[in-house]
Formats: sequence, C-alpha cells, structure tokens
Amino acid sequence: MRTEVINTESQCNAGTKRGAEIIKSGGLVAFPTETVYGLGANGLDGDAVRGIFEAKGRPADNPLILHIAKKSDVRRLWKKIPQHAQQLMDTFWPGPLTLIANRADIVPDEVTAGLDTVAVRLPADRTARELIAKSGVPIAAPSANRSGRPSPTTAAHVLADLGGRIPLILDGGPCKYGVESTVLSLVGRPTILRPGAITYEMISAAIGPVELAKCILEPLGEHETARSPGMKYKHYAPDASVVVVCGEPQRVAKYIGSECRRAELEGHIYRILATDQTIGYYKTKGSVSLGNRERPETLCANLFSALRGLDADTEVVYAEGIPETDEGLAYMNRLLRAAGFCVVRV
Ligand code: TXA
Ligand code: MG
Repeated sequence: MRTEVINTESQCNAGTKRGAEIIKSGGLVAFPTETVYGLGANGLDGDAVRGIFEAKGRPADNPLILHIAKKSDVRRLWKKIPQHAQQLMDTFWPGPLTLIANRADIVPDEVTAGLDTVAVRLPADRTARELIAKSGVPIAAPSANRSGRPSPTTAAHVLADLGGRIPLILDGGPCKYGVESTVLSLVGRPTILRPGAITYEMISAAIGPVELAKCILEPLGEHETARSPGMKYKHYAPDASVVVVCGEPQRVAKYIGSECRRAELEGHIYRILATDQTIGYYKTKGSVSLGNRERPETLCANLFSALRGLDADTEVVYAEGIPETDEGLAYMNRLLRAAGFCVVRV
C-alpha cells in the first residue's frame, strides 16, 4: 500500500477532508495531536478498529482512547457523566487530558478491549479537531507507532513505523508536548493511570484529592493486574539498554562521566541524555541536552525523538533522572519504562 502524506499546516482543509473520507469508509488515518501522533479509525465501527490493532501489532487486550470534537459528544459514549467530569472538562478540554468513565452501549468491545469503561479525550490540535468533526464520529486512536516503540512526535516517525501499512498520514509538524495525554480514571476515586502535561498538581487544584496508580514509577508485581492495561507492556524501548541515574545533578554527572570513560576503554558505544544545566560536565561527543531541568516539559518534548534518533549501533544510554514533580512525573514515567526500570541512585 502506498502511504500518502499531506501537510496540514499548508493544506488543513484538503488533508482533513481526504482523511475524513477514509475514516468514514472504515480505513486508517494517522494524524497529529498536541501530545503525539495518533492512528485513527471510526470509533463506532468494530471492524475498522480491528485494523488499528493489526497495523500496530498491538495486543488485543489494550483498550483505545476515543477522540471527540466537542465536549457534548462525550454524552453518548459514557453511561453517565461522573462526579468531577464536568469540572475537569471545563478546565482542561480541549487539551492533553483523557477521562475514563463507564461506557455506553454504542461503544464497540474492540475499543474497550472488553472493559466496561471507555477513555475519551478532546484534543486541542487543529488538524485533529477538523478531522474528527469532518468524520462525524468519535475517532479511536492509540499512538501511531509500531507496538513497543517510542510514540511518534513527527510525521517522519509515523512514516518510519507504519509507512506502507496505512493509506494516509496528516503532517501537522512536530507535536507540542511530546508525551501522551494524562489518563485519569473517574471510576471510583479519581486516579491518574498515566501522567502527562495536565499534571497531578493541576488536577488536584481543580478537584481535590487524586490518587496515583502504583505502576507509574514502579514495575508491576508478578501477580498484580494493571488498571490501565497499557502499563503492563514493555514500552518506548530503543534497541540500546537505558540506565537512569538519579541523585543530585553534579553527582549524577560525575557518575555518568566515569561510567562512560570505562565504556569507552572497553570499546562500547554509549550516549548520554543530559540537560542544559549538566551538559557542560560531559566532555564527550556522545552527550546531548534534552532541555532545561527546571522546566521538565522541555525534556518531555524531546525524549521520544531522542530515543528514536539513537544510532543503531548504540549499546548503552545513560539518562539523568529528575524530580517527579509537575511534568517531571510524566518524564520519569516514560524514561523509567524505556529503561525497563533500570535505575542507579548515587
Ligand atoms: O495523547 C494520547 O493519549 C495519544 C493521542 C494519540 O491521543 N494516545 C495514546 O493512546 O497515547 P495509547 O493507546 O497509546 O494509550 C492509551 C492508554 C493505554 O495505556 C491504555 O491501556 C489506556 O490508555 N486506556 C485506554 N482505555 C482505558 C480504559 N478504559 N481503562 C484503563 N486504561 C485505558
Ligand atoms: Mg501508545
């Protein structure tokens, strides 16, 4: 299959019109959102949704998010609007917050992977909104990567993973946030299942106490079940092994520096993911700054792209840990998963 790419920065109307035709006829379209690129299908058509799982190689027990174009569209997807939902929608939608509540009957099992809840979000990105509005249905969309790979933050990433497997990619340029939306369950006590750019601090300020799912910063125990099925899979992993080094920044840099000198003597190929504040400590060409550690959202924006950009021969990646506050929680959640929870504390 030939994969067409349409630039929606210059041709938003034509691109989303073509995309909507494909969605309405049961096909797949990759599109930008403010978080990462999504791989969309008609979210009310179980057969179309099955195509997403095939194209990505995604396990069938991992449910999808339904993307809508206006707040009121959520009414026919949820059984009822749970407590706090209206407040959250009014505060954070459109934007990178996904809300989970009990599903209505029209939502196909393929979307929810058989759960009786469904995740919904109203994205802020213009291309995404126009595509959904023109399609006239909620669009089911996971991140547009091959399963297990880092989520795509540019159309080129999508093409690398799914080129030849889908008919159309809408290219709206690089995504603003670079990590996937915050996933918040409103079934029972409000619980963050996946942290994102709408932070724990922002949500608690809006609705009061919120819980954090245990598996955000720790691996699942052998006999534990994940409340969010996506949390049990290995994720975002590059071919190289990733080591996260946590501690006071100067000590971290000293530790990584000495590990890299050793790696070099032994002939290993390594890379360092540093920050603006620490890049000066590394006198080696294998280091790159992902952004300002005082503004963790800048690190989030570059992480997946950096993981994808590693040379194929890279063996080890040393990455600096940062405090898990504000967007730092989302950053550490993705980084720890990419590292398979391999952490050194210094
Ligand atoms: O920013 C995003 O959320 C992107 C863009 C494309 O919107 N989408 C995204 O989708 O990251 P995906 O499928 O890669 O991640 C969705 C996560 C998974 O971890 C999944 O298990 C969880 O949300 N999820 C979806 N529905 C759920 C449900 N009903 N209950 C619990 N977890 C759910
Ligand atoms: Mg994903």
